Amino acid sequence: MQRIAVVPGSFDPVTLGHLDVIERAAGLFDELHVLVVHNPSKVALLPISERVSLLEESIRDAGIGGNVVVASWSVGLLVDYATDVGASVLVKGIRSQVDVAYETPMAIVNRHLAGVETVFMLPDPAHAHVSSSLVRQVSSLGGDVTPYVPAPVARFLQRS
Ligand code: PNS
Repeated sequence: MQRIAVVPGSFDPVTLGHLDVIERAAGLFDELHVLVVHNPSKVALLPISERVSLLEESIRDAGIGGNVVVASWSVGLLVDYATDVGASVLVKGIRSQVDVAYETPMAIVNRHLAGVETVFMLPDPAHAHVSSSLVRQVSSLGGDVTPYVPAPVARFLQRS
């Protein structure tokens, strides 16, 4: 039986912390779907298609395994996508207790909705302070985001 998982997120933009979790998860599952999901509670910086392109380029640059698929999802429940692709697991990176508090109700609801389990993974502590919102803020104020994001994202943000 194929072990298929989904790593969902806004990825606006993908950070080194995300990439770390994607790499670890790619080693644990036969197939890993990195899914860009529109989060209506956040003000977006990048269009979904750009987030997908930057994820694809960053994953390729990092040499992460060929078992990773990047996709986007904007209609319906996240678990509908998971069910469609035969995934029984969602993977979420957890940096702190704040993330645990945010993710726990969603994990329970997703299990109730479709029997999809959520696996929490710890990124390298070197990335514990990194978030897309911090990157968006530093970038918009003209700061250097290269310590926080993959090179393709840093190049893109410098051009924008
Ligand atoms: O990177 P983010 O913004 O923290 O990602 C949050 C995201 C997109 C994973 C979350 O908002 C989500 O799971 N959205 C899917 C909508 C859904 O299915 N909701 C019902 C069950 S929680």
